Amino acid sequence: MSTALDNSNEGHGKASAMHAAAMDKKTDKQAVYNAWADKYDQELAENNYMAPKAVAKAVLAELRGDKFVDIQMVTEESNSEVTTTVTDCTSTSRDLEILDAGCGTGLFAEEFFRMLKEEEENTALRAKQLNVHMSGCDISPEMMKYCFQRGYHRLDVVDMNKSMILPNSFESVSFNNYNTVRNGAYPPNSFHIITVVGTFNGSHVKPTPAIPELMKMLKPGGVMLLTLRTDALREHGFAEVLEELKNGKSGGIGEECDKVEIEQFQFLVGVVAELVKVWKKK
Ligand SMILES: C[S@@+](CC[C@H](N)C(=O)[O-])C[C@H]1O[C@@H](n2cnc3c(N)ncnc32)[C@H](O)[C@@H]1O
Repeated sequence: MSTALDNSNEGHGKASAMHAAAMDKKTDKQAVYNAWADKYDQELAENNYMAPKAVAKAVLAELRGDKFVDIQMVTEESNSEVTTTVTDCTSTSRDLEILDAGCGTGLFAEEFFRMLKEEEENTALRAKQLNVHMSGCDISPEMMKYCFQRGYHRLDVVDMNKSMILPNSFESVSFNNYNTVRNGAYPPNSFHIITVVGTFNGSHVKPTPAIPELMKMLKPGGVMLLTLRTDALREHGFAEVLEELKNGKSGGIGEECDKVEIEQFQFLVGVVAELVKVWKKK
């Protein structure tokens, strides 16, 4: 796989002046992304932004087979109830809770729902009749206004560099006509799947407190999928946090981590990133 990867833009990409402003450590991210929102999708498409598709594909792989979600399957042939092996998650319904953290305009959900529909038409996944509840959060409400048409059910304005977990600093706010909750939005053990696509890097969201908090927000047996440009992996403490997760030391952030898998993929034209999958213990 790695032979075809092109990292000639060395982790930064060349999308536009807005992209450069977004990557600048000194800029206010809410202001930059609010201003970029209307042109973001087009500019990223022009630079062949592949991360949402890569992550959606990886999430679908998690959902295939009988492994991930503990649900009751109704087989088409007999219409009789068959209980799948209880493997990972504690949920006993078909409800699948996903959080797309740093969701932006919702490109991940667009890819995910398109692929899920195709899978449901063609494969055994149809029998699961998943009821997907997609939550999204981001620091930019202007970016998120595009999420409603992409299947998100709940959207929150959240600064992921602050605490996201209830009951800490819970503060309900109404912002640009969204039902929003600023920091402190989520109880622990809330989500089967958490995705963070293109949002972890040194200038946007730092590894701590976000990664330990997202681990807490995962249900036991859940999985977090995040992308990290190769340059971000080397800097900003991401590598150390991933190492801690892998170590699984008692009392550390890895205590609840079952395993970590990392593979490289083409993120943008000329930019390679790591797709990191972190499973929480059952
Ligand atoms: C490169 S975009 C990725 C958006 C989306 N996930 C995608 O793949 O298109 C980065 C996103 O991170 C958001 N962001 C930046 N800093 C943030 C923070 N501190 N907390 C939450 N979101 C943040 C931006 O508003 C933006 O939507």
